[in-house]
Amino acid sequence: MLGAGFVALVDALGERDAPDVAPLRVAGDRFSGVAVRADRLGDDGYRETARRVFGRVTPENELKWEVVHPERGRYDFGPVAKVAEVGPMRGHTLVWHLQNPAWLEQGSFSRDELIAIMRDHIFTVMRRLRNVREWDVVNEAVSDEGPLRDSVWLRGIGPDYIDLAFRFAREADPDARLYYNDYGAEGAGTKSRAVLALLRRLRARGVPVDGVGLQGHVDTKPIPAFDATLDAYVALGLDVVFTEVDVRVDPDAPDLDAQAAQYARMGRACVARPRCRGFVVWGVSDAESWVPEAYPGQGDALLFDDDLRPKPAYDALRRALSGQP
Ligand code: XIL
Repeated sequence: MLGAGFVALVDALGERDAPDVAPLRVAGDRFSGVAVRADRLGDDGYRETARRVFGRVTPENELKWEVVHPERGRYDFGPVAKVAEVGPMRGHTLVWHLQNPAWLEQGSFSRDELIAIMRDHIFTVMRRLRNVREWDVVNEAVSDEGPLRDSVWLRGIGPDYIDLAFRFAREADPDARLYYNDYGAEGAGTKSRAVLALLRRLRARGVPVDGVGLQGHVDTKPIPAFDATLDAYVALGLDVVFTEVDVRVDPDAPDLDAQAAQYARMGRACVARPRCRGFVVWGVSDAESWVPEAYPGQGDALLFDDDLRPKPAYDALRRALSGQP
């Protein structure tokens, strides 16, 4: 028997056990996944939850340029290697406007130099991580207002940086599935109109984009014209993956049933479409979630609580992904 004192001590140390729950399996030949942080993997409960419950992992930050390419021409694959130990990986992300190192953001490069830098990065990272079969090649290139977002890439290369990124990625690893990934494009609105228009133009020009990653950082409100929007991506001939799902609530009065219902709606929408290939949540437990920082006053957005106990959302999503009504 463990004394109450011992249990209190373990609690105080923040030790958590992995929950005794079934893995999230997705009906059909598809995957569940979770974003993992290399710096949390020393926590057994965290690591074991990621390993046992989910089929794939996405490095939450370890493939961002500031981590993997901290100096020009110097790559550090140490952090991402730790994430890859947990399970098969989705590649996130090759070209983005955030989490770039100063040498890249503040360097003064000619257009040709910047293209060469991007090409070298894509080739080096993709060839090093050959077992990664799916990549978010370009992330968040569209602004919330619709035009392409300002970035070191748009400024230094021009709008065709997107074409180049996908073409380099195809050349670097011809068999990998290549995704365009963005947020706020799950439902009808300015953003999804602009993302759809971009993807349509890319496909028309023969740019090798295979799928769209819908991040799915949402709250509990119904997503407008959700089904029709998903169908519009599929109609372009694209695969769809929910790449970064979390459903934020007010941590002071969390409506866990509304949260569960939102997860279930998204899970069911994926399972209902053969072109939806996978469903990834953006973190293991509420204790690691990026939401409280990104959306002040909101949080508790994930499937497991701070102590790794399953929330109603876990069960709702498990049932939805398994194809149960
Ligand atoms: C977030 C991470 O979760 C945070 O740890 C980091 O501080 C900022 O980036 N869209 C993306 C992800 O494509 O890479 C972002 O991840 C969340 C929004």
